[in-house]
Amino acid sequence: MPKYDVKDIGLAKKGMDRIEWAAMDMPVLESIKKRFRKDRPLKGIRISACLHVTTETANLMDTLKAGGADVVLCASNPLSTQDDVAAACVKYIKVPTYSIKGEDNKTYYRHIMSAIDHKPHMTMDDGADVVGVLHTKKKDLLKHVIGGTEETTTGVIRLQAMAAEGVLQYPIMAVNEAMTKHLFDNRYGTGQSTMDGILRATNRLIAGSVFVVCGYGWCGKGLARTAKGMGAHVIVTEVDPLKALEAVMDGHQVMPIKEASAVGDIFVTVTGDLNVIHKGCFPKMKDGAIVANSGHFNSEIEIPALEKMKKKKRMVRDYVEEYTLRNNRRVYLLGEGRLINLASAEGHPSQVMDMSFANQALCAEYMVKNAKKLEKKVYDVPKRIDESIAALKLRAMGVNIDKLTAEQKKYLSSWEMGT
Ligand SMILES: NC(=O)c1ccc[n+]([C@@H]2O[C@H](COP(=O)([O-])OP(=O)(O)OC[C@H]3O[C@@H](n4cnc5c(N)ncnc54)[C@H](O)[C@@H]3O)[C@@H](O)[C@H]2O)c1
Repeated sequence: MPKYDVKDIGLAKKGMDRIEWAAMDMPVLESIKKRFRKDRPLKGIRISACLHVTTETANLMDTLKAGGADVVLCASNPLSTQDDVAAACVKYIKVPTYSIKGEDNKTYYRHIMSAIDHKPHMTMDDGADVVGVLHTKKKDLLKHVIGGTEETTTGVIRLQAMAAEGVLQYPIMAVNEAMTKHLFDNRYGTGQSTMDGILRATNRLIAGSVFVVCGYGWCGKGLARTAKGMGAHVIVTEVDPLKALEAVMDGHQVMPIKEASAVGDIFVTVTGDLNVIHKGCFPKMKDGAIVANSGHFNSEIEIPALEKMKKKKRMVRDYVEEYTLRNNRRVYLLGEGRLINLASAEGHPSQVMDMSFANQALCAEYMVKNAKKLEKKVYDVPKRIDESIAALKLRAMGVNIDKLTAEQKKYLSSWEMGT
C-alpha cells in the first residue's frame, strides 16, 4: 500500500465503485489510457498532482499511471475531497494520496508539502498552489522540475503574473485555455454542478426566484443559463462592459451588485475576484437571502465582514450557516464560501471532465516531449491537441460531421473568388 493521509481507508470499495461509474462517461480519457499503456510516454516521470479529489481525478491518476508516471495526489481545496475516492486512489489505483474533506488550512498545506516531497519532474495544479509553494518554500526542488500544467482560470491568471514578473521557473501548459476545457467544463460543468450544490445544500425551488450571478465569464454564462432554464429571474453583475452587454443580449437583467443586493433571493459569485459581495451588500439583502460562491477561492464573498456584522450565527443544515445581522435579517452562507459545486455536490459531471482531463494527460505527454524547447512561460494547449480531443469526443458520442471538399478548401483560402 502506498503512503497516505485520508479520512478512512475502509471507504475504498465504495469509492472504487463510483470511480468506475464515472469512467463509463469518460471515453476520451479511456482511449488515451489504452494508448499510454502501450507507449508509456510518462515512464519514470514523477508528478505531484494537486487537484480536486473526485471520481474523475481518480480516472486521470489511473491514466497517468498507465503512461508510466509515478504520481502523488493532494487536494486543491480543503472542502472538495471525496473521502471514499481518496481511499480508493490509495488502495486500488496505488497512488499516494493526501486529502481529507474539511481539513483545516494547516493540514491542507501539510498535504501539499507531502505531494511536493515527491520531488516532482512535473506539477499538475488546480489553482497554482503547488507552483506557489515550490517557488517560495521549496526552491531547492525546482531543479528537478521540467514543466507543469494548470487546470483553472484563477491558476492561469496567477501563473501569467509570475511569468510577467520573471519569477516563474519552468514552463506551464494552461489546460484551462483549451476550448475543449473552458467551453464545456467551465460553462456547462460549473453551470450544472453549481446549481446541484445549491439544491443539495438548500432544497430551495429555483423557479420564480431572483437569482443573481456575479461574473459573466465562462462559468457565469453557464450558471445563468441553468438558472434561467429552471425558471429563475436572472440578474447579472459585471465589471467588463462587453460581458455585461452579452448578458443583456442573452436576456438577463444587468445592474451593480449594490442594487442587486436588495432584490436577490440567491447570490452566486463566479468571478475569480476579491470581495465581490462585500460589506455594503449584506445589510441590504432580504431576510433569508442565500449567498454562495463557485469561483476558485473563498475570497469572493467578504466573509470576515459578515462575521463582524453578525448578531449571531448557527449551522442550520449541512453546508448552510445562518448569519443574523443587526437589522435582524438572516443571510445564509453556503459551504463556507468555498466552491459550492464541490463542497456540497460532486463537482462537474464526468462527461465534461473527460475532455478537461484528456487535456491534462495529453499536455503531460507534450511537456515530456517538448520541455527542453519551451521557455519559462505559460503556454496555450496546442490546437492540434484541442481538435483531437473534440474529434474523439464527437466519435464517442456517435456524432458525425462534414469534411471540407477540395473546392471549399481552395475557396476558403483564396481572396479572388467572389460572387
Ligand atoms: N467551481 C468550479 O468547479 C470551477 C470551474 C472552473 C472555473 N472555476 C473558477 O471560477 C472563476 C471564474 O472562472 P471563469 O472561467 O468563468 O473566468 P472568466 O475570466 O471567464 O470570468 C470571470 C468574469 O468575472 C468578471 N468579474 C471580475 N470581477 C468582477 C466583479 N467585481 N463583479 C462582477 N464581475 C466581475 C470578469 O469581468 C469576467 O467576465 C475562477 O476563479 C475559476 O478558477 C471554478
